[in-house]
Amino acid sequence: MAYTVRKLDDYAPAALDAAVHDLLSAVGQEAGSVAGENDWKLFRDRWMARKNGILTQVNDLWLKAAPGPAKREVGARVNQLKTEVERAVDAAQQRISSSGSKSRLDSERLDITLPGIRRPLGAEHPVLRTMSEIVQVFRAMGYSVADGPEIETDYLNFEALNFPPNHPARDTQDTIFVAGQERKPQRDRLLLRTHTSPVQIRAMMATPPPIRVVVPGKVHRADTADATHSPIFHQVEGLAVDTNITFCDLKGTLDHAMKAFFGSNVKTRFFPSFFPFTEPSADVSVTCFKCGGKGCRLCKMSGWIELLGCGMVDPNVFQFVKSNGYDSRKISGFAFGMGVERIAMLKYGIDDIQLFYQGDVRFLEQFN
Ligand code: DAH
Repeated sequence: MAYTVRKLDDYAPAALDAAVHDLLSAVGQEAGSVAGENDWKLFRDRWMARKNGILTQVNDLWLKAAPGPAKREVGARVNQLKTEVERAVDAAQQRISSSGSKSRLDSERLDITLPGIRRPLGAEHPVLRTMSEIVQVFRAMGYSVADGPEIETDYLNFEALNFPPNHPARDTQDTIFVAGQERKPQRDRLLLRTHTSPVQIRAMMATPPPIRVVVPGKVHRADTADATHSPIFHQVEGLAVDTNITFCDLKGTLDHAMKAFFGSNVKTRFFPSFFPFTEPSADVSVTCFKCGGKGCRLCKMSGWIELLGCGMVDPNVFQFVKSNGYDSRKISGFAFGMGVERIAMLKYGIDDIQLFYQGDVRFLEQFN
């Protein structure tokens, strides 16, 4: 039976002690059965609520109702009860909150002997992979590898490559210029390099002839993105300068490189083109590696796929690096440049250049 406060009718000390004992054993018992936060609140209110809690009832029914001479004895006991009940309520709260943190410790227990979560291994991006495969073909022929900055001067990106200021050849490369450069002389103005060709000049400034170098890297054009254009893409540039380098060396080198890259069955074809920094210049096609030259959708029924630009280094370019030993009466050279994405698209049958940049794992996983 739950404890209830009854009026006292005997004010003798022994009777009072007995009433106190009953109450304290009741609060002790109820405190012992408090099992959680809600229980505890009910318990606290039942005993301590200002309005009609058991202590309030004790105050009314025992102390207020006591006859004058008994008030002192009753009052002392009521005070003692107050202290004891408060203590019991606090202790119950302590008990449930410490058992709460124990159950939390239990539920958050870590088994540090379990094997860890494996991070799936990534794969090399098809653009970088194609780029290093191309570079590898030339490294095997004794070329070294160089790189240069993506933010370049007008001088190195254009002028030293024989694109004079305001020459219409500049219009073929839609250029992204760094803003706020108007007060600098034009040749010092900064831009995002439109090709890897400026590294030809950097390499020749750093190393006197002979030189054989390939340059993989990122380039930028003010192009609107579509299935075959991206404002950021990659190129591999090449340069070879020595005594007696001829167009035959250029043909032989690129023919070998295309066979190493696409397979020994491909044939190459050179036909005239124009670049300011080479003279003569050529565009190189390879026989379609899909149909073998018969004509298919990939090669637009022509049997040939156009892959890169090249040519013999224009003597005007050597003029800019003459002080480092590049005297066009004594040396000659060839250069070439190719777009990595285009080659990767052809090689892997990818029909949209944007797929390279979207980071969709379903696309990237196919190159594992
Ligand atoms: N820089 C040229 C471009 O971006 C590609 C190129 C053509 C590079 C001929 C060369 C070269 O080195 O000889 O369109």
